[in-house]
Amino acid sequence: MQQEQKQPVLISGSTSGIGLAIAHRMAGAGHPVMLHGLMEPAQGAQLQRQFREKYAVECGFSAANIASEEGCAQLVAETREAIGQPSILVNNAGVQFTSQAQDFPTEQWHRIIAINLSAAFFLSRELLPGMRENQWGRIINIASVHGLVASEQKAAYCAAKHGLVGLTKVLALENADFGITANAICPGWVETPLIQPQIEAIAERESLDLEAARIRLIGAKQPLTRATAPEAIGELALYLCGDFANTITGASLPVDGGWSAQ
Ligand SMILES: NC(=O)c1ccc[n+]([C@@H]2O[C@H](COP(=O)([O-])OP(=O)(O)OC[C@H]3O[C@@H](n4cnc5c(N)ncnc54)[C@H](O)[C@@H]3O)[C@@H](O)[C@H]2O)c1
Repeated sequence: MQQEQKQPVLISGSTSGIGLAIAHRMAGAGHPVMLHGLMEPAQGAQLQRQFREKYAVECGFSAANIASEEGCAQLVAETREAIGQPSILVNNAGVQFTSQAQDFPTEQWHRIIAINLSAAFFLSRELLPGMRENQWGRIINIASVHGLVASEQKAAYCAAKHGLVGLTKVLALENADFGITANAICPGWVETPLIQPQIEAIAERESLDLEAARIRLIGAKQPLTRATAPEAIGELALYLCGDFANTITGASLPVDGGWSAQ
């Protein structure tokens, strides 16, 4: 199947951050996109309108809660209704909770595994038959550097992201004969609103200016002390959908300023 046909894309968790940047890049390249995330319907409709006007592509929106198998099925049904059968699935939705393992609350463990790992499995399982029928498909899992290495306080997140890297490899092996690739992108620090309060806290605690505090925060993990732009993840996701990427499969691609090279 030729990529010029601009296959429909479902991006979970695309109402903010990295997922939204991926949605912009995909729509900018002419792909019909399904936006998704925990957003009020009126706001979702407004985002949808913005995409349609800016990119002149088909665009749907779903607020399905994908913490359950039923929620994932609902998202797929709403996607088919809005933009047709997606041949590109970006499993991006994710949540975080930090605590020492010995104190980790059960409900937070289940929530993180459900959204960061199980949803990627359920959505992939729903969409793989259609991809096989088309003899073309792309599954892109937004994992994390925490799918490759660990940090303290992140038992559930690291378990989920390492699991997502493993799932990616299995999907790549099982679907290699069907024109389907499956890859994981593993970002380190990404320039999202979450970073700023952490920088400000370090600046205050250590009497540093904001730039020095930023370097302190990022440099604690990354040799290259610059956070990745969300748009860079969008660009890589788009590249993985292109013809030149058709032999990249089962890979876990760090975009982490050297974090995982240590
Ligand atoms: N921000 C970073 O520095 C960073 C680094 C590495 C990996 N990641 C990963 O990238 C992905 C996106 O992160 P982000 O920082 O852009 O997050 P974000 O908080 O900006 O966006 C998360 C998205 O997921 C959606 N979501 C959360 N729970 C949901 C649920 N139960 N049902 C439906 N949608 C739900 C939200 O509505 C939102 O659209 C995550 O998987 C995260 O683990 C982020």
